[in-house]
Amino acid sequence: MTIEVQQIYKAYHSLQVISDLNLSLGDNKIHCFFGPSGCGKTTLANLIVGLLKADNGTIAGLQDRRMAYVFQEDRLLPWATIQENLSFVLKKSYDKDKLRAVIDYHLKLVELEAFKNSYPAELSGGMRQRVALARALAYEAEIMILDEAFKGVHLELKSALMDYVGKYVEERRLLTILITHDMEEALYLADDIYFFEGLPLKLIRHETIDIPKGERRHRAKDLAAYKEKLFR
Ligand SMILES: Nc1ncnc2c1ncn2[C@@H]1O[C@H](COP(=O)(O)OP(=O)(O)OP(=O)(O)O)[C@@H](O)[C@H]1O
Ligand SMILES: [Mg+2]
Repeated sequence: MTIEVQQIYKAYHSLQVISDLNLSLGDNKIHCFFGPSGCGKTTLANLIVGLLKADNGTIAGLQDRRMAYVFQEDRLLPWATIQENLSFVLKKSYDKDKLRAVIDYHLKLVELEAFKNSYPAELSGGMRQRVALARALAYEAEIMILDEAFKGVHLELKSALMDYVGKYVEERRLLTILITHDMEEALYLADDIYFFEGLPLKLIRHETIDIPKGERRHRAKDLAAYKEKLFR
């Protein structure tokens, strides 16, 4: 089901962050929100998932759909181990044995299996972000929000994780919102890129990337040309 954002307004006290924004986000696609720091991307994502309430306007298409959200800051529970952080979110979805296997699988995926009994404070920022990503991927959602989800992840793992996320989203037919400042990330994963400016948040351009996902890695030249065209 498409998410329809219609005539949304949002202010924080006297700061008008969003003013009459309209957006239509189709299912089974990775929608990338691209724009400068402070333009309102996270605010828009929070409105879409219902963590914030708009002052005016409607957002339709979310009814009872399971959502996974990798927040820009990792939002782990500081008093719980990494394993417990995942378990806390996932325990309703799996029986005990399956839960352990799912947690082990996803911590291995983000190269953190050795840290499952550590506490968030014992991990670096990038490591905590990987835990948050593992937690979101393990949660079988229908909508996924990735707010700077790959930041602080080293290059090699980042490209493996982007591959994984791309396939994961395609197989599950997830509607995904990818918020990033990283052109490569946008070009590699996105079906649609929304270029925003602020404040208030304004959609200045919407582009659809028509290079098939499976070919993007091997078509560096096309991507370079795209990059010039898109991120001018
Ligand atoms: N809880 C809040 N209270 C007051 N102002 C806020 C709040 N959250 C965000 N803002 C303001 O709203 C504007 C948009 O913030 P937002 O976090 O949505 O930007 P962003 O595009 O996600 O930026 P970044 O790329 O740096 O994460 C900023 O000017 C910020 O100062
Ligand atoms: Mg943000």
